Amino acid sequence: MKFTTSYGDTGFSSFLKTAFQRHLGFDERDLQKPIVGICNTFSEVNRCHSHIQPMVNAIKNGVIAAEGTPLEFPTISIGEMFTSPTTMLYRNLVAMDTEEMIRAQPIDGVVLIGGCDKMAPAQLMGAASANKPAILFTGGPMANGEYDGKTLGACSDCRYFWQEYKAETIDEAELNEINAQLAPTAGHCMVMGSASTIASCAEALGMMLPGSAAAPATVNERLRLAKKTGEQAVQLVKDDIKPSDIMTKESFENAIKLLMAIGGSTNAVIHLIAIAKRLNITIGLDDFDKLSQSTPFIANLRPAGKYQMQEFYHAGGVPAVLHELLPLLHSNERTVNGLSIQENVKNINVKDSYRDVIYTLDNPLYHKGGIRVLKGNLSPDGSLIKPKAVIDKSLLNHRGKAVVFSSIEDMENRIHSDDLDVNKDSVLVLQNAGPVGAPGMPEAGMIPIPQKLLKEGVRDMVRLSDCRMSGTAFGTVILHVAPEAAIGGPISLIQDGDEISLDVKNGRLTLHVTDDELTIRKNNLTPFADETNLRGYTKMYRDHVLQANEGCDFDFLLPVKNN
Ligand code: FES
Repeated sequence: MKFTTSYGDTGFSSFLKTAFQRHLGFDERDLQKPIVGICNTFSEVNRCHSHIQPMVNAIKNGVIAAEGTPLEFPTISIGEMFTSPTTMLYRNLVAMDTEEMIRAQPIDGVVLIGGCDKMAPAQLMGAASANKPAILFTGGPMANGEYDGKTLGACSDCRYFWQEYKAETIDEAELNEINAQLAPTAGHCMVMGSASTIASCAEALGMMLPGSAAAPATVNERLRLAKKTGEQAVQLVKDDIKPSDIMTKESFENAIKLLMAIGGSTNAVIHLIAIAKRLNITIGLDDFDKLSQSTPFIANLRPAGKYQMQEFYHAGGVPAVLHELLPLLHSNERTVNGLSIQENVKNINVKDSYRDVIYTLDNPLYHKGGIRVLKGNLSPDGSLIKPKAVIDKSLLNHRGKAVVFSSIEDMENRIHSDDLDVNKDSVLVLQNAGPVGAPGMPEAGMIPIPQKLLKEGVRDMVRLSDCRMSGTAFGTVILHVAPEAAIGGPISLIQDGDEISLDVKNGRLTLHVTDDELTIRKNNLTPFADETNLRGYTKMYRDHVLQANEGCDFDFLLPVKNN
């Protein structure tokens, strides 16, 4: 019998297993059917997954309808707003949990239920390594919020209105009223932030059923998609189609093109690299940059555009974008429903009434994609910017003097000080907030505009760091600078007053300090990270995490020949 615990006697193991399965109400016939694990990530401390139980039930119904046997099991579930210091610190832990439970448990295939930012990437990483038949489903985005007749979006408007509060254009009472409407329904954030982006990319990768990324958590179609997902999981087991059959180099390129066309989150760059590496597929920042230069931006979605997931869903969602992108895609790539991308989307049409949500290749919003890779002596291994999320476009080509913060704590302590020597042309620099330095690379990259400048009307400045920013954030923000400060990257050598130039058009980020001076500074550098009290998971994280351009996975989780 497959999947038995080892007691040194296979017959006894099988005898024992049958006795315990009978306790669950299963008989021999149930156990001969395809057994589909349902990775239930319900958690009250992961708000974005608090509503998924009816979807789990629908998935179960689908498995049973397709003559499989469902077995629900839990894994770690992490939510953005409730995890300290940052969920990214724990993405790899979720991936390990998911991989090992898929591998160890008596299941032939698995349905993974993601939603909040780090869950789907972690699950895809784990499923890729376990490589049993797998299909992803998400809890879906929230419906739109509304305040004073205007649409609200989590969490672009969380950031926008907090900034206005700091600028003293709204008071605390109004801020509180807005707060009550920012997360109005079940679901994950409803702009094209990290959660919506990674779900959309997973659909383009072929790991989710067509249409299941954008359907809001609140529409009944989501339950029907859940049931179909359960049915399809059984089929994947019967056909023995594994993640490695679906996630190929070409399907990753499709997902990157989709990412560029929707102006998605920079976090997806890290996650896609990490998932691909689990399958021994090499994609790097140069691939993202090349595909960004050749993929038009066609989805008008916040924070880079105007609409939210609700409108995106009504306009046709990911299948509609893929339909527009077909001439650019590897359209024969197969997906979890057994059909190719081309077969899935060829008959999708965007209605004229939604043409302001999804544009065409011939008439795009912008001719290039949503993310630009920057290189130069300040980020030799690359850094990222979202040019379309920049507020003050004049900053896309800018030279200014650095105002340096040596850590997140230092930034919090000084950013709003009246005596901070800063003006609107300064470049705000945050060091030691990367994968090793923070650790966990928190989403602190949208460095707050100093309050004294906010009050003068400044709403955007060039900001630069080795950490990440939320996919819902905006501004002239340079992220993921690699190598990071804590391992001695050039960002660690920046001092107050140094000149830094940003040239987005040419993909350049330059620190205007001579090589000789940089060598002197490097020789005098004191390592930032204090290792004295590090233990347990955090120590393991610091010792083994890879840099942002390599996906921030642990070195020992790569396939053996890459290890
Ligand atoms: Fe979960 Fe935004 S807080 S997706």
